Amino acid sequence: LFAQETDFLKGVVAMDGMPPADRLEVCFAGRSNVGKSSLINALTGRKSLARTSNTPGRTQEINFFTLHDSHYLVDVPGYGFANAPLPVVKKWQALLKAYLSGRASLRRVFLLIDSRHGPKAVDEEIMALLGKSAVTFQVVLTKSDKPKKGELDKIITKTKEVVSKYPAAYPEFILTSSEKGDGIATLRNTIRTLV
Ligand code: GTP
Ligand code: MG
Repeated sequence: LFAQETDFLKGVVAMDGMPPADRLEVCFAGRSNVGKSSLINALTGRKSLARTSNTPGRTQEINFFTLHDSHYLVDVPGYGFANAPLPVVKKWQALLKAYLSGRASLRRVFLLIDSRHGPKAVDEEIMALLGKSAVTFQVVLTKSDKPKKGELDKIITKTKEVVSKYPAAYPEFILTSSEKGDGIATLRNTIRTLV
C-alpha cells in the first residue's frame, strides 16, 4: 500500500483548492518542526517526497499525497513558532483550522508530539478543536531516537495524562523515529486498518 503507491498530488493554499472529499484520508498535524514531513517520507520509503527542513515553517501548504489511488495522506503546515512573517503564519493557521474542522473525508489525525518535549498548550488547542469537529486523533511521539529512556518514560506518562482529558483521543500512542525506522511499520499497519 505504501512505497510504490504514493505520489504527490497537489499543494493547497485555500479551502476551495482542496481535491474533492471523495476518498478517505489521514493527516499528520503537529507543531512546526515536530517531524510531520519526515514521517511521510519514512512511511512511504521515499526520502524526498515531502520537503523537510531544520527550519520550523518548512511546509507552507496543505499537501495531498495519493495513496494507492484510493486514499490520501495529508501533510500540513505546523502550528506554533514558524520562521515566517506573522501575517503569513496566521493565514496558514486559519487554513489548517478550517481543514481540520471541515473535511468530511478526514478519517483520523495523527497528532505528532516531540518525544523530548511532550504536549504544549497549542497541542491542546488542536485536541479541543478536533473534539468539537468529532475527528479522532491519535498521538504519535516523534524523534524517539532522541530522548534517554528515563526522560521518555516521563514524557509518555505526562502525555497520557493530558490526552485523557480529550474525548476525541484514540487511547494508544505510537512511538516513531523517522531516522531509525522505529514504529514506522506499526503506523503503516494502523493506517491500513483505517482506510
Ligand atoms: P514544518 O513543516 O516546518 O512544520 O516541520 P515538520 O513537522 O514537517 O518537520 P520536518 O519533517 O521538516 O523535520 C524537522 C527536523 O526534524 C528536520 O531537521 C528532520 O531531519 C528532523 N527529524 C524529523 N524526524 C526525526 C526523527 O525521527 N529523528 C531525528 N533525530 N530527527 C528527526
Ligand atoms: Mg513539514
